[in-house]
Amino acid sequence: MTADDTIAARKTVCVTGAGGFIASWIVKLLLERGYNVRGTVRNPEDPKNDHLRAIEGANERLVLCKANLLDADDLRAAINGCEGIFHTASPVTDDPELMVEPAVEGTRKVILAAAEAGVRRVVFTSSVGAVTMDPKRGADVVVDESCWSDLEFCKQTKNWYCYGKAVAEQKAWELAGEMGVDLVVVNPVLVMGPLLQPQVNASIMHVVKYLDGSAKTYANAVQAYVDVRDVAEAQIRVYESPSASGRYLCAESVLHREDVVRILAKLFPQYPIPLKCSDEINPRKKPYKFSNKKLKDLGIEFITVKQSLYDTIKNLQQKGHLPVIS
Ligand SMILES: NC(=O)c1ccc[n+]([C@@H]2O[C@H](COP(=O)([O-])OP(=O)(O)OC[C@H]3O[C@@H](n4cnc5c(N)ncnc54)[C@H](OP(=O)(O)O)[C@@H]3O)[C@@H](O)[C@H]2O)c1
Repeated sequence: MTADDTIAARKTVCVTGAGGFIASWIVKLLLERGYNVRGTVRNPEDPKNDHLRAIEGANERLVLCKANLLDADDLRAAINGCEGIFHTASPVTDDPELMVEPAVEGTRKVILAAAEAGVRRVVFTSSVGAVTMDPKRGADVVVDESCWSDLEFCKQTKNWYCYGKAVAEQKAWELAGEMGVDLVVVNPVLVMGPLLQPQVNASIMHVVKYLDGSAKTYANAVQAYVDVRDVAEAQIRVYESPSASGRYLCAESVLHREDVVRILAKLFPQYPIPLKCSDEINPRKKPYKFSNKKLKDLGIEFITVKQSLYDTIKNLQQKGHLPVIS
């Protein structure tokens, strides 16, 4: 252990939605650094959370606490006595009924509990969905932390996930300001990389569909990508860095879908990867410019999208989510 690890060893932090894709990696990295971790899950007895208990250090320093985002008492009990919070729990869906209230109200309850417990810092996992959904943004604009999604546009396009995340982040800033809570926000783009949890989450399905034969074509669309290990590392860097503040766009690259399927086809030619675009009429969409300078300045060296895709597929094979075809 280094001197820094020894300091971390005395600290207890809370990770909400600990069993999820990103949160499981945050828990793993926190345990590696010597933190005591309280991970909130909806049901600690559910076998889907067993992977958390298997992480090195979990026996000694991980406690799973039962908490639904809509239950203030559960959240208070998990957060009270913690030095910091990594708030990652959120529904990930475009169903407005299931998305908006838990995302927004859950975030409000976490900030209130943080204020009551007097935690040092809250790191909130927002999303690129709170950043890029703006039809007025010019083609040459560099997307960075100053960009905000347009709520009316999210509603009109029925993008309830982006709407819920954007409103949740706005509320978090508003309430943290009022209550004097030190809030730092990480806005990841589409997250890939190896799963620790047994089930495939929504962002990984984005890649699975190109390998399991379910997608026959790819869309004329662009998407930004980042690896889950960098998202977790970013969260801990912004937590530990005294000068960290504001939002942090967490992105490695922006690619057209065609680039993604071509990388996959080159790495894994044995799968039925679609190489035909569903849109043969409109011009090819151009990747937007973005800045990840704030996180690079904190020392993050992003895993390349090619490496991340490779590690994702290998992990899906190992976990039995994709057949190993030779
Ligand atoms: N993956 C991405 O591409 C991506 C990109 C940008 C931002 N994000 C954000 O990152 C966070 C984690 O996403 P993820 O990809 O890791 O998704 P995930 O694997 O689906 O994890 C979401 C977690 O939130 C929990 N949760 C959902 N509703 C809850 C509720 N009402 N009460 C308590 N817990 C609840 C889930 O618990 P259960 O297991 O009990 O359902 C799960 O542990 C989310 O805030 C998401 O918006 C993700």
